[in-house]
Amino acid sequence: MYASDLFKNKKVLVTGGRSGIGYGIAKAFLTYGAEVMIASRKQEPLQAAANELRTFGTCHAQVCDIREPESIQKLGEVIQETLGGLDILINNAGGQFPAPSNVIAQKGWAAVINNNLNGTFYMCQHMANTFFIPQKSGTIINITANVMRGFPGMAHTGAARAGVENLTKTLGQEWAEHNIRVNAVAPGTIATSGLENYPEQMQTFLKESEQKNLMKRFGTAEDVSHAVLFLSSPLSSYISGVTLAVDGLEHLAGDRMELYNTIMSFMK
Ligand SMILES: NC(=O)c1ccc[n+]([C@@H]2O[C@H](COP(=O)([O-])OP(=O)(O)OC[C@H]3O[C@@H](n4cnc5c(N)ncnc54)[C@H](OP(=O)(O)O)[C@@H]3O)[C@@H](O)[C@H]2O)c1
Repeated sequence: MYASDLFKNKKVLVTGGRSGIGYGIAKAFLTYGAEVMIASRKQEPLQAAANELRTFGTCHAQVCDIREPESIQKLGEVIQETLGGLDILINNAGGQFPAPSNVIAQKGWAAVINNNLNGTFYMCQHMANTFFIPQKSGTIINITANVMRGFPGMAHTGAARAGVENLTKTLGQEWAEHNIRVNAVAPGTIATSGLENYPEQMQTFLKESEQKNLMKRFGTAEDVSHAVLFLSSPLSSYISGVTLAVDGLEHLAGDRMELYNTIMSFMK
């Protein structure tokens, strides 16, 4: 769809690139000529994914926990050694669990905020200071979620992702002078391994909600990665600070209380 060398000589970091949406994004960048580093916490699946991704191009892997500044520092050093620099950062790593707000424990709340909001900020700050600001160029894409009308049933991730969308606007403005663009992509429900992590009771809800989408399907990792490629490429060179929904209209249509109501029904 794009020119096959669109990302030739570009060096890309995809957090959470070992699975699901992140894997799809890494594969897409490799397909269009980029050199890619994937980073996540679990060594074994990370290496296995990197081995698979090498079918499509030059892929490296480094264990990293985006919540840990020392781990991010190490990742920056490894990127310098192996890739020799960085052009594009994709903040995709994250996770959450379904729960009504009145029972989310402080520990669970803090864990989701720390992973999805703080981790994303730490990554942006470190990679900007290490690579993008000194070289006066860079592109950051933050993967968020459908949070425009709140997120009943997952308040912690709703708050964290809304924070990231606001951060995207702030960093876009502060770093425009350094020729850094910062955008976000907000996926709707995307059919990935991530969905399998949700409890069995929710799988029925997911099946039903697919038919309620106005496009009668869930999104795919390709749907998300095509948007990420656009926002990472010179085709979007005058776009910064925006969040692009890739969700078959989920942010506009559909009952936002359905997930919450489903959780409540199996808690009774
Ligand atoms: N699938 C959807 O419908 C959907 C919709 C909207 C938003 N999203 C978001 O999009 C992103 C990707 O989703 P997905 O469906 O592809 O889920 P996934 O397969 O569970 O991917 C999450 C990835 O993030 C990594 N990760 C999690 N915490 C991390 C940390 N602290 N440091 C480094 N890596 C970490 C995981 O690897 P390790 O466990 O090995 O660290 C994993 O590779 C997530 O942020 C997700 O919440 C997904």
